[in-house]
Amino acid sequence: MSDWWKTFFDADYIHLWSAAEYAGDIEQQVQAVWELLGLREGSRLLDAPCGYGRLSAPMARRGAVVAGVDQSVEMLAQAERERGDLPVERLRYLRHDLRTPLAEGGFDAAMNIFTSIGYGSEEDDLAIFRTLRAAVLPGGRVVVETMHRDVAVALFSRTLQPAQRLADGTLVVEEPVFDPIAGRVNTAWYWSGPAGQGSKRASLRIYTITELVRLLETAGLRFVSAHGGATTASFRGEGPEMGGRVMLLAEHA
Ligand SMILES: C[S@@+](CC[C@H](N)C(=O)[O-])C[C@H]1O[C@@H](n2cnc3c(N)ncnc32)[C@H](O)[C@@H]1O
Repeated sequence: MSDWWKTFFDADYIHLWSAAEYAGDIEQQVQAVWELLGLREGSRLLDAPCGYGRLSAPMARRGAVVAGVDQSVEMLAQAERERGDLPVERLRYLRHDLRTPLAEGGFDAAMNIFTSIGYGSEEDDLAIFRTLRAAVLPGGRVVVETMHRDVAVALFSRTLQPAQRLADGTLVVEEPVFDPIAGRVNTAWYWSGPAGQGSKRASLRIYTITELVRLLETAGLRFVSAHGGATTASFRGEGPEMGGRVMLLAEHA
């Protein structure tokens, strides 16, 4: 299943994962990231990868000068359709594979949100972190928000994977298989609803928070703090979901 992610992010992805049931409360996420990155009016922000601009456009509307980078033509096309009245001086989109360095640098901060790593090999993720590090100024902050192995295992241990009914009536069922040796979840989604039916497969490397911090530090990003999901609250690995998703704050050492 190597390179599955090069075609995964298409119109079906946008239909399913832009639903609030998956994408969450965007304003809340924007507020938390804005605060943790210490952004101000005019701060230069790199959203990498940006997908369909889910957070890039709200960040630009708040006053940041945003560059959104992604490898998917379809996601970038959707991002352009949704830019509204934001001018290019405020929000730019660029197609680029983040495993290789960007031509542009000098950003005040960078964000990597909503499980945007773990698609390929560990070397691929290290390369992405190195790209983020090289793009921000010394002392510049970076946030990475993603799944981690403790929460994944806590969810899998309940064996029953609940189906999701989206607001438009689409029913989505996920069938994940966890490989504890590779530390990967090989998963499939099946959906059916008013807009049609289909299926998608993915393979994700799910790191422990310890591994994620090590990867960041190897890339030259000093770990600062861990937060619960896309919030400013300190991460606590407790409860039935082992703290839920995590957002790591690091800085260009
Ligand atoms: C789950 S989406 C999240 C997008 C966005 N951060 C958000 O919060 O909505 C992951 C995105 O990562 C992009 N992506 C994955 N690997 C990439 C790479 N090596 N270079 C650039 N984009 C990549 C995909 O095209 C996809 O749009």
